[in-house]
Amino acid sequence: MLVRPRRNRISSEIRGLVRETSLSAQHLVWPLFVQEGHKRETPISSMPGQSRLSVDLVVERAKAARDLGVAGVALFPALPDSLKDPRGKESTNPGGLLQRTVSELKSKVPDLVVITDVALDPYSSDGHDGVVIDGRIDNDVTVPILAEMAVAQARAGADIVAPSDMMDGRVGAIRRALDENGFSQVGICSYCVKYASGFYGPFREALDSAPRSGDKKTYQMDPANVREALREVRLDEAEGADYLLVKPGLPYLDVIRFVREHTSLPIVTYHVSGEFAMLKAAAQNGWLDYDRCLIETLLGFRRAGADVIFTYAAVEAAKLLKGGQG
Ligand code: PBG
Repeated sequence: MLVRPRRNRISSEIRGLVRETSLSAQHLVWPLFVQEGHKRETPISSMPGQSRLSVDLVVERAKAARDLGVAGVALFPALPDSLKDPRGKESTNPGGLLQRTVSELKSKVPDLVVITDVALDPYSSDGHDGVVIDGRIDNDVTVPILAEMAVAQARAGADIVAPSDMMDGRVGAIRRALDENGFSQVGICSYCVKYASGFYGPFREALDSAPRSGDKKTYQMDPANVREALREVRLDEAEGADYLLVKPGLPYLDVIRFVREHTSLPIVTYHVSGEFAMLKAAAQNGWLDYDRCLIETLLGFRRAGADVIFTYAAVEAAKLLKGGQG
């Protein structure tokens, strides 16, 4: 035999020489759920190890994550029903929970990248990402609210705003609103290719934000489609997005690769709540080696073409990577 591929796998050092993909904590963003209170932690049963945290605990945990090299956090507020209404008024409150969390984080952990979610669902009494009028999600009524929400988050100190709502035209509207208000340095991470997925279940439990009626199929993408992603990519590029996000992650690795081949923008993927829950559940049953499968999953995102990964396992992964695994 003249050709023996195994020669390039002969030792750890040789494997290191020929390794094609790298993974480190600098690529990771940790999604966090914030709630009112002091030293208050409410575990999320379907996401073992993850909790809703009061602002002081968010700051404490985010600092520890940063010390391990995790690049940033993505924040989602868990609000009581009393603060929810059809138009998500609370979302633009300068003294609201999310805005307070952002300013605390930026003052206490300044080098942590703080990413905020722009969508109505945590604030909406209908549990939808947009305003519901006569049973339909009204795109054009929603967009100005999203733009105002993004400005409130930027004013609180957000580094990057991340519209996760899938309304048409919102990236351009947010970009204009940010610029008009003096926030031209604030980036936009667009949830550009977001599918109507069953894998968001545990997240909706965490925020108690499931749609009160209907589903999200008139705004989130059909899992059967991939060409359609290109339309979203072209629009978000033209509207000024700085990052394009593909979500969920694992069942859509082909989409990450497809988008990678059609844009020069950085690509983000979201290892979503249901993907995290599957791995935890299998590990708790002794059916999978959690550490090993976690690193393999994250590496898979990077190999497919993702620059940045949102994952609930960011801290666990950062510890493993520090310990030389991966
Ligand atoms: C909604 C939003 C969702 C997630 C992030 N932002 C859920 C949804 O679209 O219903 C899901 C994240 C996860 O499952 O981890 N704006």
